[in-house]
Amino acid sequence: MAIATIKWDNGAIKIIDQTLLPNKLVYLKFKDLKGFWHAIKKLQVRGAPALGVAAAYGAYLGIQNSRAKNYNGFMRDLGKVIKFLGSARPTAVNLFWGLDRMRAVAVKNKDKNVAAIKKAMLSEAHRVFEEDRAICRRMADHGARLIKNSDVILTHCNAGALATADYGTALGVVYRAKEQGKRIKVYADETRPLLQGARLTAWELMREGIDVTLICDNMAAHVMGQGKITKVIVGADRIARNGDTANKIGTYGVAVLAKYHKIPFYVVAPVSTIDFSLENGRQIPIEERGSDEITTIQGRRIAPKGVAAYCPAFDVTPSRLITAIVTEKGVFKPDEIKRIR
Ligand code: MRU
Repeated sequence: MAIATIKWDNGAIKIIDQTLLPNKLVYLKFKDLKGFWHAIKKLQVRGAPALGVAAAYGAYLGIQNSRAKNYNGFMRDLGKVIKFLGSARPTAVNLFWGLDRMRAVAVKNKDKNVAAIKKAMLSEAHRVFEEDRAICRRMADHGARLIKNSDVILTHCNAGALATADYGTALGVVYRAKEQGKRIKVYADETRPLLQGARLTAWELMREGIDVTLICDNMAAHVMGQGKITKVIVGADRIARNGDTANKIGTYGVAVLAKYHKIPFYVVAPVSTIDFSLENGRQIPIEERGSDEITTIQGRRIAPKGVAAYCPAFDVTPSRLITAIVTEKGVFKPDEIKRIR
């Protein structure tokens, strides 16, 4: 996959600024933690698995210049960095998973000096990155088995290369099916308010030569009613133990429509997106974003000044609407995922 969404580059984190796509492909480099926190907050880097990688490299970025002389001092510095990065976005559990991994590696190396702990943490961040690449491929292999020649897939938001370190989750399945020689077509929901579908999914699918057609979110029912869609495939930001799945706002509506039209609805996500500590989706924290994301489009006002606007960034699809969840460990019915642990 030619898209390098996030990587470590000579003491800095390099990302594609996703807020500028599809009009400009600009890479940004961060050497300071505050700047990188803002990049996560502003969605310059986004998508659950990419946020796991961002957390790992971000944690290292935050402590690479720590002047702590001993383990306790170092852990105090690391604790602050982890708390700060964790405050950037609440829903994608991969962010916290990545931070936990970095804390765990520091603890595991507590008998070493600070320089050696830092070194172990950078290696761990590289491992998180490499693992995500491998996991994308495995999910794609499992998911592609569900895809038939001539399937027409509806997707929501962006769960592709721009949301991971490699191939994507939902879109990874599409890429793999295409590599297998299956003829497939994708309908991409534009995904209001921040238009990840229109700006990002359409851009990356076109680059990869996939037949993609963009629709507004409110066209999904009509398109399904016309019999044009054979499968829905989306990603996830956090999956509870019972299979309830948080994903980009609008996903729940798509799942209800899919059920009504008897279209299979698949979620593709790595095991790191499953939050085994949560019994059900009601416990998933839902990010609320500023009302300006609804009242303006790319800086241009589209609603009267001062109007109230409510902006939840995610919703929860109940597990009963999900046909199966595809992970790197295989394809599971939603009520089976608790067994993965
Ligand atoms: O707000 P975003 O753009 O970070 O939301 C992303 C999504 O909802 C994706 O569908 C999800 O993270 C899965 S990405 C493989």
